Amino acid sequence: MAISISHLTKRFGQTDVLRGIDLGVEKGELVALLGPSGSGKTTLLKIIAGLEWPDSGRLVVDEADWLQLAAQDRRIGFVFQHYALFPHMSVRDNLAFGLTVRPRSARPAKAVIAAKVEELLHFLQISHLGDRYPAQLSGGQRQRVALGRALAIEPSILLLDEPFGALDAAIRRDLRRWLRGVHEATGSTTIFVTHDQEEAFELADRVVVMGEGQIAQIGDADAIHDHPATPFVARFMGATVELPVTMQSGRARADGLDLTVLPRRALPDGPAQVFARPEDIIPQPDPAGPWRIISRTSNGANLRLVLRHPDLGEAELDTPRRAVAADCMIADASMRLRIAFGTIFPGDRRNPAPASEPENIPQLEKTP
Ligand SMILES: Nc1ncnc2c1ncn2[C@@H]1O[C@H](COP(=O)(O)OP(=O)(O)OP(=O)(O)O)[C@@H](O)[C@H]1O
Ligand SMILES: [Mg+2]
Repeated sequence: MAISISHLTKRFGQTDVLRGIDLGVEKGELVALLGPSGSGKTTLLKIIAGLEWPDSGRLVVDEADWLQLAAQDRRIGFVFQHYALFPHMSVRDNLAFGLTVRPRSARPAKAVIAAKVEELLHFLQISHLGDRYPAQLSGGQRQRVALGRALAIEPSILLLDEPFGALDAAIRRDLRRWLRGVHEATGSTTIFVTHDQEEAFELADRVVVMGEGQIAQIGDADAIHDHPATPFVARFMGATVELPVTMQSGRARADGLDLTVLPRRALPDGPAQVFARPEDIIPQPDPAGPWRIISRTSNGANLRLVLRHPDLGEAELDTPRRAVAADCMIADASMRLRIAFGTIFPGDRRNPAPASEPENIPQLEKTP
């Protein structure tokens, strides 16, 4: 089913948790909500599920006003981060639960439920686990069962709130691939919450980056990576080095920085900030360079250097340890820095990007 969310706001006490969310999800699409802790991801899912109500805004699903519908009438499949399966029920009974608790008139016959459960066990590749109890399952197996329980009711929409959050990286990767396959086979409209970038980009058709109750950017991996819409998205995507520069005829300049590979930007002359990832900053030994190495650590593959400039401040960067120039990367050495990739936002250090926000940011309702 297609979901259309407009101008949705939610406040808990004095806190604006959702500050005007506009989002459309197409039928059969898998969208990831990506954002730091506290950005409102779970609250948005709960509103879609009918477990929480917004203060204003609209939630329309296939032309029906869902804010008029109770949770049980929405047929949502919901998997939570720490999903408690019923510990006293076998995997089979857990899977059957959503169907067995339906009112008598809507409840399938016992044999139909049993057949459905067998089908799910097979489909989710957990047939060998049917008679086990949750305590006898690994974390990854439990989350597969949890997803099976959500799918058993043939949900109109599937909401997954960090379903793999508690599992280790290798299992997460396996489950991600498995979930993508399940999604392609069921074609259910799915919203997947995570704060893991890699997970979001690998799994989703589109990624929605949320920060402080607002949507900061919607796009695919390449667009969000290469063209962060705001300083917040840039930082969140790992461009953690922020250096003050001066714009002059569309070019960024600063003492000791080679910024010539950055494309010309239509920004007013004056102060701006360049945001770059530590690995996109290339140190170049130069006895006359204004940067000094003040710390150097190695993780084997990369050197992590911290450099200081008398006016621009500090920059932290990663450079391959085996690179030719790595021998010169010692404490107190003088350098220039080349920015191989970065994003420029207008404004001074305390207030980047005040003047022109990129056009793909939705206009937000001002809340009093
Ligand atoms: N029932 C509630 N009462 C009061 N405040 C709440 C309630 N639920 C959530 N909040 C607050 O709303 C904000 C957003 O919470 P939410 O759980 O939606 O964030 P999140 O993006 O899911 O974070 P996380 O990644 O940590 O799960 C937080 O500041 C939280 O403290
Ligand atoms: Mg949450």
